[in-house]
Amino acid sequence: MNFTPTPRSPVRSILFVPGDSERKLQKAAESNADALILDLEDSVTASRTQVARELVLDYLKSQKEARRQQLWVRINPLSTPAALLDLMIVAGAPDVLMLPKVDSSADVVRLSHMLDALEVREGVQAGHIGILPVATETAASLFTLGTYAGCSPRLAGLTWGAEDIAAALGASTNKGPDGGYDHVFQLACSLCLAGACAAGVQPIDTIWADFKDEAGLLASSRLGRQRGFTGRMAIHPAQVDVINAAYSPSEEELVWARRVVEVFDANPGLGTVGLDGKMLDMPHLKQARRVLAMAQRD
Ligand code: COA
Ligand code: MG
Repeated sequence: MNFTPTPRSPVRSILFVPGDSERKLQKAAESNADALILDLEDSVTASRTQVARELVLDYLKSQKEARRQQLWVRINPLSTPAALLDLMIVAGAPDVLMLPKVDSSADVVRLSHMLDALEVREGVQAGHIGILPVATETAASLFTLGTYAGCSPRLAGLTWGAEDIAAALGASTNKGPDGGYDHVFQLACSLCLAGACAAGVQPIDTIWADFKDEAGLLASSRLGRQRGFTGRMAIHPAQVDVINAAYSPSEEELVWARRVVEVFDANPGLGTVGLDGKMLDMPHLKQARRVLAMAQRD
């Protein structure tokens, strides 16, 4: 089906909210998260899944007009019958469906076809709903991170996780001797970043599980942005402002970016210029423009 995808602003912070918790839904709405992920998967027990679907659908419907936050929903893996039941929430016009445990872009295409039909049935604008795969949760997925480019106009980004892939590989931990992620999991992170950039969509960094460790979250978020990620998932409202700050350019970066753009504007026709005794060429200009674009978002 041909459609023009709904333009979606890039997001800095995306807060997970267990879909069966009315209290947390209320708290999340008060946070500064750019998007919420209303979860129907791992944070909800099987006996509460139907309750969660109904709560999430009610919440989506209550926020149909002029949403302050994008509302995303994590459904169950497409290989399970639960996923099909989860799709009742399409009637609430979520902005993005997060799809866990994908093996490749073929899963995105499959979900996209289902959405083509369900959007028509539910009176949702064709192509409104984006898809965000959690692209590193199965062993097979590590071989297919390069398959996402052009797979579907619904592709809203790529993100990664280090928990499910550890279980899939039989790893007893995802940590290396220095306390950071071991190299297998760093590989998943890097492939996700490259796969997202190759597909021209937002690379979204994984969670920081220790929600009391603000300093660790800040340092790792800064590192993530330095690597090229443009947003990050949160699991607790206290993480949101830290992530928003880490994923917004600092005043110093903005000053640098404006100067780089100015120096190239002042020297049309030159591919390489000097600034403060350092060489600048096209990649610097590209990066400076990216920093200025980041500052445009709210
Ligand atoms: N969204 C919205 N509100 C949340 C929240 C979240 N993710 N996490 C905590 N809160 C609320 C709590 O309800 C509490 O509010 P209240 O005291 O007014 O009721 C307040 O924030 C402080 O919470 P706190 O006591 O520090 O944490 P907790 O022990 O209640 O919860 C977790 C800890 C980890 C269970 C909780 O943060 C959570 O459910 N996170 C999301 C988990 C998830 O979705 N995982 C799936 C992806 S990995
Ligand atoms: Mg999981």
